Amino acid sequence: MEPRAPEHPHVPGPSLWPVGFALGIVALLVGLVVNWWIVVAGGVIAVIFGFLWARDVARGHGLTETAEVEPERRDGHGPAAEAPPRTYGRAAFLEVSTLGIGAVIGGLVTLPALGFMTLPAFLKQRDPPRDLGPLSNFPEGEFVVATFMANPAQGEVSRRTAFVRNNGLLGTDPSFTIISNHCAHLGCPVQPNTAVPAQHKTVNDVTLISLPTPPSGFSCPCHGGAYDIEGNRIAGPPVRALDRYRFSIAHGRLVLGAAFSVSKVVGTGASAHIYTYDLHFPGEHVDGLESWLYPLQPPH
Ligand code: FES
Repeated sequence: MEPRAPEHPHVPGPSLWPVGFALGIVALLVGLVVNWWIVVAGGVIAVIFGFLWARDVARGHGLTETAEVEPERRDGHGPAAEAPPRTYGRAAFLEVSTLGIGAVIGGLVTLPALGFMTLPAFLKQRDPPRDLGPLSNFPEGEFVVATFMANPAQGEVSRRTAFVRNNGLLGTDPSFTIISNHCAHLGCPVQPNTAVPAQHKTVNDVTLISLPTPPSGFSCPCHGGAYDIEGNRIAGPPVRALDRYRFSIAHGRLVLGAAFSVSKVVGTGASAHIYTYDLHFPGEHVDGLESWLYPLQPPH
C-alpha cells in the first residue's frame, strides 16, 4: 500500500533569529547616539542573527542541502538502484532570489547616500595650529584677547576669539589658560567683565587686545549667561563651562591647538584641575545623565 501524504505539511517552528536580528539593529541605532562600540556590537549581533535567520529561511524553502536517506527498495533488500534527483520549487527560488536582489539594490542605493551625508562631518575638519606670536605678547597674570583666523584658507569666516592668560611656570613648563569666547548656551560671543580695552596689536591676521583691568569674569549679552574668571558657569542658561584651547610653545612662540569642552574647573591658574571632554556644540551637556542624549561628536 502507498504511504499517505501527511495532512499537515511540515512547517518550521518559530525562530528566535529575527528577534536577535532586530535587537542587533536596535543596538546599532542606539549606538549611533551613544557610543561607537555599541554600534560595532549591534552590527555584529545583527550580522550573526541575520545569517542564522537567512539560513533557516533557506532551509524552510528547501534551498539548502540536507542529508539524504537512501530510499529502500520495494522488496526490502537494500537501497534502490537510483535515488530521484533533488529538485527545488520555482516559487521558492523566485521568492528568495527576489528578496536577495532587493537587498543588494537597497544597499547599493542607500549606503552611498548615507556615506555622502554623514562622512564629511567626520573627515578633515580640524583647524591647523595657529601661531599667536612670541610669549612676550602675553604678560604673566593678565588676560589678552586674541582674535585670529582658525583656518586662513577659509578666510574671515573662520575668525575666532580667545581669552589668553599667561599663568607663569608650572614646574619648568609655561602654563596658559586659553578660553574660547563661544557661550556654552547657544554660542553667542561672551565678553570679559572689564573696562573697554584700548591697546591693539595686529600681526598678519592675529590681533591681540590688552585689557586695562583684570576682568572679574565673562558674561554673555544674549541671554544673561555668566561665567567666573576660569570660565565656570555661575548664572544663566549655559549648560557647562566655557570651552578652552590646547596650546604648545614652539621657538618661544605660543601656538594654539585644538579646542575642547570643559564641564568645570576646580582651582585657578596653573594649578587648576580642568575636567576636559571632546569638543561639544553649544548647549550640549558633557557629563551627567543629560550627556547621553547627545549624538557622537564629529570633529569641529
Ligand atoms: S547664548 Fe549665551 S546665554 Fe544664551
